[in-house]
Amino acid sequence: MSIVIAVDGTAASGKGTLAKMLARHFGFAHLDSGALYRLTALAVLEAQGDPASEADALKGAQTLDFNRAGDPAIRSDIVGKASSQVAAIPAVRDALLAFQRDFLTRPPGGSPGAVMDGRDIGTVICPTATAKLYIDASPEVRARRRWTELKNMNIRRAEQDVLAELNARDAADKSRPVSPLKQAPDADLLDTTDLGIDAAFAAALALVSSKVEGALKDRHRG
Ligand code: CDP
Repeated sequence: MSIVIAVDGTAASGKGTLAKMLARHFGFAHLDSGALYRLTALAVLEAQGDPASEADALKGAQTLDFNRAGDPAIRSDIVGKASSQVAAIPAVRDALLAFQRDFLTRPPGGSPGAVMDGRDIGTVICPTATAKLYIDASPEVRARRRWTELKNMNIRRAEQDVLAELNARDAADKSRPVSPLKQAPDADLLDTTDLGIDAAFAAALALVSSKVEGALKDRHRG
């Protein structure tokens, strides 16, 4: 494994933005693991499949097109809901595991480290991660952030609907039997409810920097 920063947390908690900023700061590669589940869901929906069907969802995971990770289509709430459905299917999680572990073992670009954000990075994908963060914020603040993000992508939604969707998805993610969303015992909790992005990044950096700098020094020595 390379040096790994695992960033887990609730929907729209800011974990993706923080993960990207941490990756840029340390010169590490970044993977949004949620995009893998969203791309799986998109593949299922585009093939007129059922995201709750194991066969359909597994086929989606096997045929997902990673080149579409930037496609706004994966950000719709229909795909969001379907991603949470496919993510509850163990065969789908297994199919996506190797890709994630390979990314952490050999980060693209020969980078010495990787930052991965998701739901089970510190608990299942990489329990030995160098540093682990668990990001959360109040549901209302998260709904407002996601609503703004969607608006900027020209997707107009009522804020209450966004809030309801986030709450439903968090409940499903936390209660599923496989890889449920939970804080790893050795993860640091960062509540971003009252923090703007710069303050949240400063707090995240303060939590991980000594561990990451230590691992980088060990690497140079070794
Ligand atoms: O951006 P947001 O936090 O709303 O969601 P996301 O990170 O794109 O993840 C979409 C869905 O994929 C989540 O609701 C989870 O059900 C699932 N997921 C997962 O199960 N495990 C991960 N490591 C990442 C996402």
